[in-house]
Amino acid sequence: MKIILLGPPGSGKGTVSERLEKDFNLAHVSAGELLREEVKKDTAIGRDIKKFMEKGNLVPNRFVVEMVKLEVNGKDNYILDGFPRSVEQAKLIEGLGIDLVISLEVPEQIVIERFAGRRVCGTGEHGYHLKYLPPKKEGVCDYDGTKLVQRKDDNPEVIKERFRIYHAETQPLVDYYKKKGILKTVDGAPAPEVVYAAVKKIVKTFKK
Ligand code: AP5
Repeated sequence: MKIILLGPPGSGKGTVSERLEKDFNLAHVSAGELLREEVKKDTAIGRDIKKFMEKGNLVPNRFVVEMVKLEVNGKDNYILDGFPRSVEQAKLIEGLGIDLVISLEVPEQIVIERFAGRRVCGTGEHGYHLKYLPPKKEGVCDYDGTKLVQRKDDNPEVIKERFRIYHAETQPLVDYYKKKGILKTVDGAPAPEVVYAAVKKIVKTFKK
């Protein structure tokens, strides 16, 4: 099964993906995470990518599209988290044969509050929230014991730009996939367990 998770910054795409990965044995392919890994390596490409990410802009397709395609190559079961992020990107992956697109809908006000409390682990694979999704031990990842940190692009100015880009480039994908008849929307505003239960129901029904 090939699933795309759409939604504004901070809508819970990563949080939902982590759970889907476990429950349905799907590979979690996060475009943001792949890009952050490249930045960490401090390669020439990584340094280029960093310039876009730290401003909250989309990283050019020449970097991101091939990276994601390589990651899913040979796989039949995965979640694409944060990819595609524009109609142009969606057209470039038409050949993958996506089965289902789930759009998390959350008002901007709610999402902005989530950013202040967001923490991620040292590997970047696990996300938390100080109030809504705290780790078992303060400041430490439940899974790998690494120290929890704030993401560099979680600052108010960059968040504003990420939202601007979302509305201009990514939101049109909701209509794009609606027209293809593979879109399901989920209210992403309630508590994490409630949101995930709604997503899980859709995926389970789809699998039958
Ligand atoms: P990316 O890392 O994908 O960031 P994003 O899309 O802005 O999304 P986030 O990771 O911020 O949020 P999320 O929806 O995963 O929410 P989360 O689950 O963490 O991309 C970063 C950058 O990379 C982009 O700006 C761009 O530069 C580049 N990039 C990425 N993809 C690209 C592409 N395709 N093309 C070009 N460039 C690309 O939840 C947020 C917080 O809320 C957490 O603290 C969580 O614990 C908490 N939370 C989650 N759900 C709930 C809930 N229901 N109630 C309360 N709190 C909740």
